[in-house]
Parts: sequence; C-alpha cells; structure tokens
Amino acid sequence: MGAERTPVIAGNWKMNGLKQDGLALARDVAAGAGAYRCEFVVCPPATLLAAASEVLVGSGVHLGAQDCHAEPDGAHTGDISAAMLVDAGCSHAILGHSERRADHGEDDATVLAKATAALAAGLTAIVCVGETEAERDAGQALDVVAAQVAGSVPENATAANTIVAYEPVWAIGSGRTPTPSEIQAVHAHIRSAIAGRLDGGAAAAMRLLYGGSMKPGNAAELLAIEDVDGGLIGGASLKAEDFLAIAQSCP
Ligand code: PGA
Repeated sequence: MGAERTPVIAGNWKMNGLKQDGLALARDVAAGAGAYRCEFVVCPPATLLAAASEVLVGSGVHLGAQDCHAEPDGAHTGDISAAMLVDAGCSHAILGHSERRADHGEDDATVLAKATAALAAGLTAIVCVGETEAERDAGQALDVVAAQVAGSVPENATAANTIVAYEPVWAIGSGRTPTPSEIQAVHAHIRSAIAGRLDGGAAAAMRLLYGGSMKPGNAAELLAIEDVDGGLIGGASLKAEDFLAIAQSCP
C-alpha cells in the first residue's frame, strides 16, 4: 500500500439484510469504525439505504449503493438514479460488479455510462473489473482487466471521485484468492492502464481495492501488497466483527 493513499475498506452486502439485522450491522460498524485509519464504506441493499444513512450519521462511515441507472430520471421501472442515491444519503456507488455484469448483461459501455452518471451526481464510483477463471487459465487476465478499465472508467475520473476494485470472478465467494504476486501484477497493470487513460498523477493517487474472498485470516497479507489500497469485501462484511478485523489489518 502506498503511504500517500488512505486505504478504503468497503463492504458489499449484496442481496442480504432485512431491516432489523441490516441496521444492527450498520450500527455495529459505525460504533467500531472510529478506531481505524482507513476509510469505511458500507453498501447495503437499496431498501436499507435511507435508514442506514440515519444510523451512520456522524460515524464517518460512508454509505454506498450497489448499482445505479445511467439516466437521471424517466421511464425505467425498478431502477434507481444516481441523484436518488445521493438523496438517500449515499456518497459512493459500486458499478460493474461481476454479478451485475453476469446477471444483468452489463458490458463495459453500460458500466461506463453508469459510472459517468454517478460522477455527475457527485458520487464516488467504485468501478469493478476482473477476469473469469477461463480467462486467467488462458493467460488473458492482464489484457481482460486492462480492457475493462479502458472501457468502464470515465475520462473525467480522478483519484478523488473514483476507486477501482479488482475482483477476479473466480475468487468471489469461493474461498480462493490469487497469490500476492499475481494480485500485484494485476494492480500494477491497472495503475498503468489508468495512467494511459487519465494521467500519471491520477493513477498514482487512485485507490485500487482487491476483492474476492478477503477475510480476517488473509487480510493482512492481501492489504500489504504494494498496489492494493484496501478491500471490497462481500461475505465477511456481513459480520461487523469480521469486517472490522479486516480493517484492523490495514498496514
Ligand atoms: P466475497 O465477495 O468477499 O464474498 O468473495 C466480494 C465481492 O463480490 O465484492
């Protein structure tokens, strides 16, 4: 981790959490968060955003959504605009998670449009990229991830308004992770792809998160990797104790 980049520990709750348990989790994260030097983001399901924002007031824990629509308003039944997320108390949005790319057919152009809308509304975009197992086995991980960065990160992205999360699809929820040197190779490649797309200063300062089976037992090793500036955590973000233990591992 670069000393100049404040780590980000982000929890992606996915489609988990009813009011009682979800707000208790938000409350427990808020209560514990003050003691760490990282930035915290929690991304509950859309149904809990407004209530979670009340719970998080004054805690310093940021609230993120898991998606947004690319359009500011209109006839899009079931969708939520970036401005609506801001209105509900969000400061961040995850865009292009592999589960959305797979379940909803989101391609790089869709993710780019959503990230652009998020930035326009004042949200910080957490743009996700990552190769499938077949792509890794074929030796294509670096090329796939660089193409996703080129296709999904907006041209007006800055280190202040954008975070990139590298999440190998095969590592998500599987208990498997790449080795630290494999992760470093991808993160260095992402940073140079960002330098090519934006500029060197933005690339050097942008936070690059690792995601995929991060948990208390492996967080110290993963968060110590040079170009890893935090984590995007799924399963282990559903227990405040585990989520905070991961934050404790930030170097
Ligand atoms: P996981 O999920 O930590 O459960 O592997 C990470 C993610 O999909 O963001």
